[in-house]
Amino acid sequence: MYTHKTNSNVTLSTLQDFKERGEKFTCLTAYDACFASILSEAGIEVMLIGDSLGMVLQGHDSTLPVTMDDMIYHTQCVKRGNKRSLLMADLPFMSYASETQTLENAAALMRAGAHMVKLEGGAWIANTTKLLAERGIPVCAHMGLTPQSVNRIGGFHVQGRDTTQAQQILQEAQLLEDSGANILLLECVPTSLAKTITESVNVPVIGIGAGPDTTAQIMVLHDVLGISPITPRFVKNFLIESKNGIPGAIEAYVEAVKGKSFPTKDHCFN
Ligand code: KIV
Repeated sequence: MYTHKTNSNVTLSTLQDFKERGEKFTCLTAYDACFASILSEAGIEVMLIGDSLGMVLQGHDSTLPVTMDDMIYHTQCVKRGNKRSLLMADLPFMSYASETQTLENAAALMRAGAHMVKLEGGAWIANTTKLLAERGIPVCAHMGLTPQSVNRIGGFHVQGRDTTQAQQILQEAQLLEDSGANILLLECVPTSLAKTITESVNVPVIGIGAGPDTTAQIMVLHDVLGISPITPRFVKNFLIESKNGIPGAIEAYVEAVKGKSFPTKDHCFN
């Protein structure tokens, strides 16, 4: 059992300390009170109320149909089950298209119980990030594969494989940090790019399909439990070997991330 569990609430400074100590923290998606309680008890530092709920709960083939009402409802549910994790909530597709809309929607998620919001994009979300940061709303900038842009990207493909695109993502990461992002999240980028970005910014970097060198790892809860219809390369089913059902699977995930045995090179893109 890992000994890092604490009884105090996880805050942005807790996460920043992990980065400074060179230690890993753990994140998982959560959508309801019951799972939120199990995840938080197991020592998950960050629970994401992700718009992936559109796919794993609602059965859509993308996150685009998810609404602000959906996000508010699930954030309220997770807040009720949370013990001490930091709650990050997604601003769904087209909910941050104008300044007024961004501020109203981010405020609604914070009122529902989120401690920070996540939005997807590159340079084009720099002004939005600055706007939110100035109004006291912590921001996680989701980069690399951004599922809300799946139609423009042309599928759920790895991003930053060629030098030009990798260079662009690196520059955008630095711009978003300078614009006030407190955390960066990299989805489906080569291991070497995630490592370079993690080393070149001061804020924590969360990875999914981004290799072992980011400050933290995140997975979709249904993937960790092996109940998602699709299993991308970066996914590992932790329930299969658990001797204590779902709580055991979550604890195994925490141990594997903190002990650096997950992700292995089989879960990464090079
Ligand atoms: O919505 C979500 O679950 C996410 C994760 C895949 C990072 O954004």
